[in-house]
Amino acid sequence: MKRILKWSALAILVVLFAWFEFAYWTSSNDCGRGIPTGAQRIKAVRFCDYGAPDVVHMDEIEKPAPAEDQLLVRVRAASLNAIDVAIVRGPALARLLFGLRKPKFTGFARDFAGVVEAVGKKVTEFKPGDEVFGLKGGAVAQYVYARKDRVVMKPASVTFEEAAAVPLAGLTAWQGLKTGKIHAGEKVLVNGASGGVGTFAIQIAKAFNAEVTAVVSTRNVEIARQLAADHVIDYTKEDFTKRSERYDLLYDNVMNHSMSERRRVLTSDGICVLAGFGGAAPSGTEAMARIVRGFSDSFRSRFSAQKFERYTTTASQADLQSLSDLIAQGKVKPFVEKTYPMSETVEALRYFNAGHTRGKLVIAVD
Ligand SMILES: NC(=O)c1ccc[n+]([C@@H]2O[C@H](COP(=O)([O-])OP(=O)(O)OC[C@H]3O[C@@H](n4cnc5c(N)ncnc54)[C@H](OP(=O)(O)O)[C@@H]3O)[C@@H](O)[C@H]2O)c1
Repeated sequence: MKRILKWSALAILVVLFAWFEFAYWTSSNDCGRGIPTGAQRIKAVRFCDYGAPDVVHMDEIEKPAPAEDQLLVRVRAASLNAIDVAIVRGPALARLLFGLRKPKFTGFARDFAGVVEAVGKKVTEFKPGDEVFGLKGGAVAQYVYARKDRVVMKPASVTFEEAAAVPLAGLTAWQGLKTGKIHAGEKVLVNGASGGVGTFAIQIAKAFNAEVTAVVSTRNVEIARQLAADHVIDYTKEDFTKRSERYDLLYDNVMNHSMSERRRVLTSDGICVLAGFGGAAPSGTEAMARIVRGFSDSFRSRFSAQKFERYTTTASQADLQSLSDLIAQGKVKPFVEKTYPMSETVEALRYFNAGHTRGKLVIAVD
């Protein structure tokens, strides 16, 4: 019996190893494929291999055509998010989803703003000429085709660059604060308040009439004040978990404190929303440790009144519309630190990788 078990385990290991080798070496993408003669060509930024920022490069691809429920959008601006930059590096876990040896999908970034050029047969909500923003992989390109339920109209009060800064970071802040059951009058602390997600989280929490405390480094104290945070804590000078203040909602973009430290500053039935692990700032191992700790904290909090809630951002059109409404009402203004031309996307990536972006980095698409 023991011998049978031993040989079966060995056989399973050999099969798994063979499957992994096969999947790894056959993992490929469309980079080597030519563009059919006569097809329209457009410029797009893509990455054919995983690696350092300079794997990202400008290329020519075939101009996409929209399906029945899609829009063809002439992109005017796109923006970077932590996930876009992480996929390019190709950490082991991401490769299980996005391609083992090479990225399956080679388009870069996902947030865009632009002008509708054409619509599919089943699209009645948008028409050519509409100014829109939304989500679609491969956003740093002259054109993208996007599903109609991933797009909303751009408020006239913001530029294309500002609108392109909104989708993923804005949705992450919105959905996270909703996960934390935000309501008027409560005390909200945003840890990691000066990055893409944090700058939206401060403003959205204020739009809900919460009393907001922003945790940032010295150079970003002024930005947090500009965004109307009621209180600002400089994390290089003070540890928020050592204060006597208690918060109803702790929106944690960094997860750099232990569960017991964070419980200490939560009210007795407060909620800690586990939004992120500090963007590109922590090393790969540290980021992984924070993610694992997030799962464990969330599980352990099931047995206590103070909750630690994890969530994954979804591309909800209704939520995107709510963000668009807040922008139109002047309650939220996307904070863009810098706009790069499309030809300098690599520089934008390098800057993001340093881990101290203020607000969002945008790529202007010409
Ligand atoms: N849950 C989801 O589905 C979801 C979706 C999208 C994004 N995310 C995650 O959300 C996180 C934030 O994304 P992002 O786009 O805002 O990244 P980001 O723009 O790089 O911002 C990271 C922020 O962390 C701050 N920070 C670093 N160390 C800190 C510390 N010790 N104390 C306080 N703040 C610190 C940085 O501020 P300084 O420069 O001042 O240090 C920066 O403001 C990322 O981990 C991302 O993966 C999650």
